[in-house]
Amino acid sequence: MSRAIYPGSFDPVTFGHIDIIKRSSEMFDEVLVGVLNNHAKHPLFSVEERKQMLEVTTKEYKNVSIISFDGLLIDYMKQNNISVIVRGLRAITDFDYELQIAQSNRKVSKETIDTVFLTTSIDYAYLSSSIVREYASYGTDVSDFVPQFVVEKLKNRFR
Ligand code: PNS
Repeated sequence: MSRAIYPGSFDPVTFGHIDIIKRSSEMFDEVLVGVLNNHAKHPLFSVEERKQMLEVTTKEYKNVSIISFDGLLIDYMKQNNISVIVRGLRAITDFDYELQIAQSNRKVSKETIDTVFLTTSIDYAYLSSSIVREYASYGTDVSDFVPQFVVEKLKNRFR
C-alpha cells in the first residue's frame, strides 16, 4: 500500500493546497496531510484550527487524513512507515528551497525517503497562505483563494 505525506504549515489551507491534496489522493492509496506544529513561528491559527479547516475542506477525499507533527518530518515518517513526501511547486522561486529540503531529507534519512513534486495548477500559481492572510487582515474578500469555511474563520480572526 502506498502512503504519502503532504506536510506544510497550512496557515490557512488555500485552494492551491486543496488542488495538491486532491491530485495526490488519486496517486497514492493513502495521503496524510501533516500540519507542522511550528513552535518557532507565530501562526495565525493554532494547530487544532488548521487541522479543522483541512478536515472540513477535504472531507470528500476518503483516503486523506489530517495529522499534526512536531519536530523533524522524517522522524514522523519513519515512526509511521511513510516513505514519500508530496510538495507543490508553484514557480521557479520555490525550486531552490524545495530542492534543498528534498535533498537534505533524502540524505538524512539515508536514502529511505523521496519527495514527489506536483506542479501547482496555473490557476493557483500566485497563491500562498501569507498572501491570503495579508489581504484578509485588511478585510478584502478572499473567497477566490480559500473555501467559504476558511473565509469565515479569517473574518472572525480579523474582526
Ligand atoms: O508550508 P511550509 O511552511 O512551506 O512547510 C514547510 C515544512 C513543514 C514542509 C518544513 O518546514 C518541515 O518539514 N518542517 C519540519 C521540520 C523538519 O523536518 N525540518 C527539516 C527540513 S527543513
